Amino acid sequence: MQWQTLRAETGSRSIWSALSKGLLKVGALSDALLDAPIVGIAAAPSGFNNCHRNISELVEAVSRGVLAEGGLPRVFPTISLGEVFLNPTSMKFRNLMAMDTEEMIRAQPMDAVVLIGGCDKTVPAQLMGALSADLPAVQLVTGPMSTGRHKGERLGACTDCRRFWGRFRGGEIDSDEIEIVEGRLAQTTGTCAVMGTASSMACIAETLGIALPGSAAIPAVNSARLVAAEESGRVAMRLAKNPIRPSQVITAKSVENALRLLMAVGGSTNAIIHLTAIAGRAGIAISYDRLNEISDETPVLVDLKPVGEGYMEDLFTAGGVAAVLRELKPLLHLDTMTVEGRTLGQVLESAPRWVDRKVVREFDKPVSPLGGLIALKGSLAPDGAIFKRAAATESLFEHEGRAVVFEGLEDLAARIDDPGLDVKADDVLVLKNAGPKACGMPEAGYLPIPRKLAQQGVKDMLRISDARMSGTAFGTVVLHVAPEAAQGGPLAAVRNGDRIRLSVTNKRIDLLVDKDEIAKRLSTHTPVEVPRRGYAALYQNTVTQAPLGCDFDFLAGR
Ligand code: FES
Repeated sequence: MQWQTLRAETGSRSIWSALSKGLLKVGALSDALLDAPIVGIAAAPSGFNNCHRNISELVEAVSRGVLAEGGLPRVFPTISLGEVFLNPTSMKFRNLMAMDTEEMIRAQPMDAVVLIGGCDKTVPAQLMGALSADLPAVQLVTGPMSTGRHKGERLGACTDCRRFWGRFRGGEIDSDEIEIVEGRLAQTTGTCAVMGTASSMACIAETLGIALPGSAAIPAVNSARLVAAEESGRVAMRLAKNPIRPSQVITAKSVENALRLLMAVGGSTNAIIHLTAIAGRAGIAISYDRLNEISDETPVLVDLKPVGEGYMEDLFTAGGVAAVLRELKPLLHLDTMTVEGRTLGQVLESAPRWVDRKVVREFDKPVSPLGGLIALKGSLAPDGAIFKRAAATESLFEHEGRAVVFEGLEDLAARIDDPGLDVKADDVLVLKNAGPKACGMPEAGYLPIPRKLAQQGVKDMLRISDARMSGTAFGTVVLHVAPEAAQGGPLAAVRNGDRIRLSVTNKRIDLLVDKDEIAKRLSTHTPVEVPRRGYAALYQNTVTQAPLGCDFDFLAGR
């Protein structure tokens, strides 16, 4: 129930109203403000989240917007998920942040909410929570970092980290240079500078219509971001008076628009899991068959790393998300609603016209004619797997090779650089037991090229796992294999020397082992042990597989 409605129903003289108003007065607020609509500001700053360093100035700007429209801004904290500091992986805590966000929106007296997040898991968590609470909401992202420079070339976290790290492992650069590069990769506040997961989710939020038009790509340090923050506060206040709920904005049509946008920007594989989880909160399913249809119809139009050359700051100056959506217009549902109360079609009509074609290509002159991401199915992944074809090596699209198997993360760390490892460039590296139930599904799917091959100049190999991969990574990598090995999927049955075949044309990933033999091997599989207590037990007992978004089974739906 909204705070305004509650006040109207309980009446200004109720003991509840008097007490809560009295306690709010401790915040030194006038009666006029206490009678105004309340806009909550869900903020997630943390000393362990470098991508959210600018949140305090964003909160201030949002508050300005709320006050200017005659409302009362009230900031409240939720947990924060800094990508690089959380063990075993931030993914394990996305659902916890979503629950925190949902319950605090529902429990506290507010009429609308502005959600401020940015780092990979925070925006999905906030959108999942806000959609379940279904109070009018506006998403505001912290914005992407600006690039650094090294020897005349631009650097941005974290595609360039991986590139330089690969060169270091291959002996092309020394430890002194890698240390200098480390200091130049992330030089401003904000989220990773390329089209990784954070940027993909920011662009998705804008396409869904829950973040303001033009807001996704504004660099974190640009003053326009503060203007967008102020406007987000104003819009939230209008929503407090005339509600448009997240369930009216995030619909089957807007989710499909967001999937198209994801393909066109060459976005992150993680974004598929997150968008599936967000849509799942509204009871909307994303089928892998539909994903493949959309991918085949939607070209990659944006030339940003890790697929292309540029950075998010380039997308901003090139025309932003609207420039991409305008190219996709014939394929979009233009009647979807945005938090501003305009349809997507109306937003695109009024968006600035100039576009830098080096960054955002025309529909018929794309970076790549097919979408960036596809789903695979086959005897190795009966429930599906995800493949980022836009960031893969085309000569490996139709590939058969011998499996070199790692039983888990510890095994991988112990043996990948062993000079005695029996591995050749055309083998297939397989990592098991890195899925959601095994260990929270870390970004371990970008298996390093074994050092002895890296030193021979091998840059890419077919790699397969039930893990995720950072949105900033690239390579011929099959991810999110479902069911995962820990759940007894066929991945658990793979042994060294088995043959595996990838066919991007047929969208298949197959273990070339007789199905009776696979069943025999799996009959002795032991399920993963469930922790006895706490969040870890809740997580392992209820987390769903990647094709369902890795949400908790009891949180999906309305
Ligand atoms: Fe936060 Fe990359 S570490 S977005």
